[in-house]
Amino acid sequence: MLSREENETLTRVGPGTPMGELMRHYWLPALLSEEIPEPDCPPARVRLLGEDLVAFRDSRGKIGLLGEHCAHRGTSLFFGRNEECGLRCIYHGWKYDVDGKVVETPAEPTNSDFRNKLRHTAYPCREAAGMIFTYMGPREQMPLLPRYEWLDLNPEQACPVKSLLECNFLQGIEGDFDSSHTSFLHNNDISESARLKRDGAPVLDAEETAYGMRAISIRKVGADQIYVRTTPYIMPSFSIVPGPPTEKFEEDDIRGFRFWVPIDDRKTWLYILNMRRKPFDAAERRSLRGWIGADYRRLRNAANDYLLNRALQQTTSYTGIEALNPAEQDGCATESMGAIYDRSKEHLGYSDKTIIALRKMLLTAVSDLQEGKEPRHVVRDPALNDFSRLRSIKGVLPARTGWRKVMEGLGPNDG
Ligand code: FES
Ligand SMILES: [Fe+2]
Repeated sequence: MLSREENETLTRVGPGTPMGELMRHYWLPALLSEEIPEPDCPPARVRLLGEDLVAFRDSRGKIGLLGEHCAHRGTSLFFGRNEECGLRCIYHGWKYDVDGKVVETPAEPTNSDFRNKLRHTAYPCREAAGMIFTYMGPREQMPLLPRYEWLDLNPEQACPVKSLLECNFLQGIEGDFDSSHTSFLHNNDISESARLKRDGAPVLDAEETAYGMRAISIRKVGADQIYVRTTPYIMPSFSIVPGPPTEKFEEDDIRGFRFWVPIDDRKTWLYILNMRRKPFDAAERRSLRGWIGADYRRLRNAANDYLLNRALQQTTSYTGIEALNPAEQDGCATESMGAIYDRSKEHLGYSDKTIIALRKMLLTAVSDLQEGKEPRHVVRDPALNDFSRLRSIKGVLPARTGWRKVMEGLGPNDG
């Protein structure tokens, strides 16, 4: 349980809020590359941390992310003309470059240098793995883009899937750090034989790491073995959830890096970055996005009760939500709490141990920033910028050995 004040602190993300300011100290996904696919294509609307922006790709392919409203008299630059290395407002023709410089004010007298006194809101962007990242914090504190596995992938090896979550980001990412729900919400085989094999009440632990936190879940397998899973929480709101066995991964198996990015207090983008050594073909890409409709809205959403099938719920799956991606079941669980859940009303048990640790770490991160401390996992030294082996680890071990054996042989940034 959180106090109302703590809940407000963790969930409000607009400009000037403590959590919003913390998030602005990290590189965040702003949109997919496919939303502005080529030079001089139409711009795209972007709303991030409660701020309305417009993204465009200029004639040289450079990406700009500008304040949506023209500095002159506020017309939306979404309707602007993307031409000759700049985005031009359709009201009086003011033109901006990717850095927010006003490069032309054609309605002003020719000798006017008025435009040189202006600087429009513009955030720096970087593109990797089919995604466009931005940094919205103080310029003088801009960190390096952390070198995760996806930074070095070819575009064919990455398949990012973007979907709208109609609630606060914290509800979303708490699900990634909550191992116990998987035995229920994602149980798609409710038969008695399957139930007997499952340990629905894992032993849980959480510990702080250089990148954020690590959640550990330990389930019994038969009499003398344990099944261990670790899940990294990466600052400020990213995760890697356990996928296929780590040994098998290298060629065929897909691993997912997940980014929960606040649109505002009540809406969130979930980017699932699917990664694989072997290139994804067009059919695979379609199937990975098969649960997403127009405008990146989910086909199963609150408006249609997630297309829940009560007969299926009786006979086959715990939820009755036949999901292409488990995120569809997660969506029902987290959106149905309400847009911003009031955590002063909840009743936490042992199974919430990792969630409690996560909230505590985030509240500390917020107060550290307010005291002027360096935010955790902000990377400044190129020599220390290697998180390319950061993984969610899982494995079956003899019960006597203890879970830490699953991390054996890994470096401090690996798991
Ligand atoms: S409002 Fe944009 S140029 Fe006038
Ligand atoms: Fe889940």
